[in-house]
Amino acid sequence: MKLILATNNQNKLREFREVLSPYGFEVISQHEAGIDIEVEETGNTFEENACLKAKAVYDIAKLPVIADDSGLQIDFLNGAPGVFSARYAEPGHRCERVLSEMDGVPDDKRTARFNCTIVFIDENGGKFCAVGTCEGKIGYEKRGTNGFGYDPIFMMGDKSFAELSADEKNSVSHRGNAIRVLERHLEEKYGKQE
Ligand code: IMP
Repeated sequence: MKLILATNNQNKLREFREVLSPYGFEVISQHEAGIDIEVEETGNTFEENACLKAKAVYDIAKLPVIADDSGLQIDFLNGAPGVFSARYAEPGHRCERVLSEMDGVPDDKRTARFNCTIVFIDENGGKFCAVGTCEGKIGYEKRGTNGFGYDPIFMMGDKSFAELSADEKNSVSHRGNAIRVLERHLEEKYGKQE
């Protein structure tokens, strides 16, 4: 069965292809499905935004769809950047903005978490939502060169996400956790193919 991933992000496509193929899904991108829409992320939560993206594509294609939304929530900043994570500053300046907003904030008030919410709409229009989170703290400087986005300032213990290998990050990350919730659901619903 074909399944559309409501993104054209090549990294997400590769990751979801690996996860979904054992359940009999052939994952195609929005572009490959011929759906040329850019859905505005107007929701107040990750779930609302993921739903908006998934539903817009499902309504056109009437095929199973997966969409996700993710971001960083910092307690001291009342949950910011949250759903605005991708737009918090110009590319290359987002970590710097957070670091300056957290300047002088003591260690115990630097708590934060990443959230990844994946919405799956099945072949009948039924919806399943998988949420994964990952708790950490905002560091005092950028550390490490792996990963992307806020990874250099997101500390888990004494290492930043950007100091972890892809496998190490995946085993604890919000995205890894959300994908594992989705996998359990797919296994129950469709069974795993040999
Ligand atoms: P989106 O889910 O593709 O809309 O991404 C939202 C934004 O959240 C990204 O552009 C990053 O800035 C941030 N973000 C989401 N996941 C991660 C992560 O694993 N590491 C670092 N930043 C992330």
